[in-house]
Amino acid sequence: MINKTTIDQVFEISRVEEVISDFITLKKSGANYKGLSPFTKEKTPSFMVSPVKQIWKDFSSGKGGNVVAFLMEHEHFSYPEAIKYLAKKYSIEIVESVQSEKEKKLNSQRESMYLVADYACGFFENSLLSTDEGKAIGLTYFYERGFTDTTIKFFRLGYSPKAPNSLVNNAKKNGYNIDFLIETGLVIVNENTSKTIDRFRSRLIFPIRSMSGRIQGFGGRVLTELKKSAKYINSPESDIYNKSKTLYGLFESKKSIAKEDCCYIVEGYTDVIQMYQSGITNVVSSSGTALTPYQIRLIKRLTSNIILLFDSDPAGIRAALRGVDLILEQGINVRICTFPDGEDPDSFAKNNSNEVIKQFLNKNTKDFIQFKAKLLFDDSKNDPIKKTLIVRDIINSISKIPDIIKQEFYLKSCSEIMGVSEDVTFRAFAQINSKIKRNESKARDKSLQKTPVIISDLNKIDAKYILEKQIISILLQYGHLETEYEDLVIKLNEKGELIESYENIKSKVFEKIFLDLQQDEVELADPTFRKLFNKLISAYQLKSDSAVNNLVFSDSENLSHVVADLLMETEKYFLHSWDSKNIFVKNKTHDLGQLVSETILTLRKNLINDKINILKNELKNKNNQNLLEDIINYNQLKKTVSKKLNRVL
Ligand code: CTP
Ligand code: MN
Repeated sequence: MINKTTIDQVFEISRVEEVISDFITLKKSGANYKGLSPFTKEKTPSFMVSPVKQIWKDFSSGKGGNVVAFLMEHEHFSYPEAIKYLAKKYSIEIVESVQSEKEKKLNSQRESMYLVADYACGFFENSLLSTDEGKAIGLTYFYERGFTDTTIKFFRLGYSPKAPNSLVNNAKKNGYNIDFLIETGLVIVNENTSKTIDRFRSRLIFPIRSMSGRIQGFGGRVLTELKKSAKYINSPESDIYNKSKTLYGLFESKKSIAKEDCCYIVEGYTDVIQMYQSGITNVVSSSGTALTPYQIRLIKRLTSNIILLFDSDPAGIRAALRGVDLILEQGINVRICTFPDGEDPDSFAKNNSNEVIKQFLNKNTKDFIQFKAKLLFDDSKNDPIKKTLIVRDIINSISKIPDIIKQEFYLKSCSEIMGVSEDVTFRAFAQINSKIKRNESKARDKSLQKTPVIISDLNKIDAKYILEKQIISILLQYGHLETEYEDLVIKLNEKGELIESYENIKSKVFEKIFLDLQQDEVELADPTFRKLFNKLISAYQLKSDSAVNNLVFSDSENLSHVVADLLMETEKYFLHSWDSKNIFVKNKTHDLGQLVSETILTLRKNLINDKINILKNELKNKNNQNLLEDIINYNQLKKTVSKKLNRVL
């Protein structure tokens, strides 16, 4: 952990305009700077930087924030990565807060492994570009595949020489610790003889980088496929390389993925490189294995649109289908494009112009339903039983989508494409869905011991819990929206008297909720909600709405479970079962402003009441003038809140 003083120093010294102008050309415009938005493809500048306020705002995408938010948006850094970047830029020494011995050891071990991996990458590059062997064998090979010098340098491609100890020897000469070469799998030790040998000898090297650009591992390709050995060997799993958490090309493509708001997924290293070279730069590869949920979440930080690109052979199609449900489950839109017989993205991109490739992709990219329908339909001809199975298969995929509105849209599209009535399609969906729900609730019952709410227990739950839950739901769904509230404003009139009046005030939902609670100096009572509340508020303060989702869903403290439940239950709780609970009575026609006002005021009343009770109890134990004053103040506050509440209800 970077310590607080370092972070404070970073914020103090960093100049937002300096940092941003490393990435964007800024021109002075009055007190501010102006430039072209890096997040959209605009022609007139709408990106503003205020040196006075030390903030930036992109009017075309709506994004904005402080210097760290910029690096997180633009470079897709994590928070600590952004701090480290700034510290480096401004030569601020990073002081890490105290770590346990074990943590220290692990961290320094990891750092050493990264160091060695980076060194090896340089060694392989140098062998490719500056040695006779590398040029004759490696470079010729890459040229034959159509890679340009720029591409080779950009992806840091390399060559590992034939001599079995070239890397080891060179590393020793340069003072690197062989242990770390072994840890990273670059060098293998023969257990019997204790002799070392380079893992990738005589192979072409494809370095694999993390999202923030550090070398984690390598893929090594044989030169001729005549050899009996595997076409590719890869770095083994280690403290710095985890295949299932890495996407090849993500570092190189991340900006373009965010900008295009779409990510292509291909099968292999060469597909990524060739596509990239052809100007399709929003492309990554899961490197020959099935996509993992973790990899999908990495992409979700950048976009919610994925297009799978696969060969049209059965293996390719199977791979594509395998990915679909996983992607849908994460709320991402997925489309699929397959290539003509015998072609893959690599060969197709090599043989066609950027224009032709784009046209091809546009024309042949299919929605997952169309894709499944066509594929399975070709297979089944007009066999009614097979057709039923296909419809079930598609509906099954649709049931994975978290968004109900999207589900409805896809169900309609399914019924149309498959020629089945909407009525039947929706009924089949309901059937499949309720089966899934039953299984889920069985699973949930088991894990419920810890979870505080059970739906059937609704009557026993106190109002406060439900209100807090509703506040979190509102924050999750509408936090970033701007809306209007009526609020009590106190002013002095000409005669110097205090007058109260109700005025309409515009603000974002999250700001309203945050400020209201802050004003009372009360916090949510439920610890999980409190944690979630704080996270959501700081995410909204820092970033845009989609970032809030990402933050919550990728949260390490396992709050995502609570969030998912909340979003699912929202429908059930919202406004339906309220009347009978006498918490507040309203119908569905509320607008958002009213819903927020009601909920927050009711909750405030509850929390203030609690506070007063606590204070009264304390007063019993020790008589204290301050306590008494607090109680009087809170009673006053309660009156004001009640007054406001009576007005909105
Ligand atoms: N792969 C692997 N190990 C293998 C074979 C494949 O790790 N023995 C991974 C690699 O990441 C490879 C991807 O699966 O890029 C796709 O495999 P394949 O289509 O066989 O390789 P290509 O990338 O197409 O390589 P090339 O075009 O050079 O044949
Ligand atoms: Mn290939």
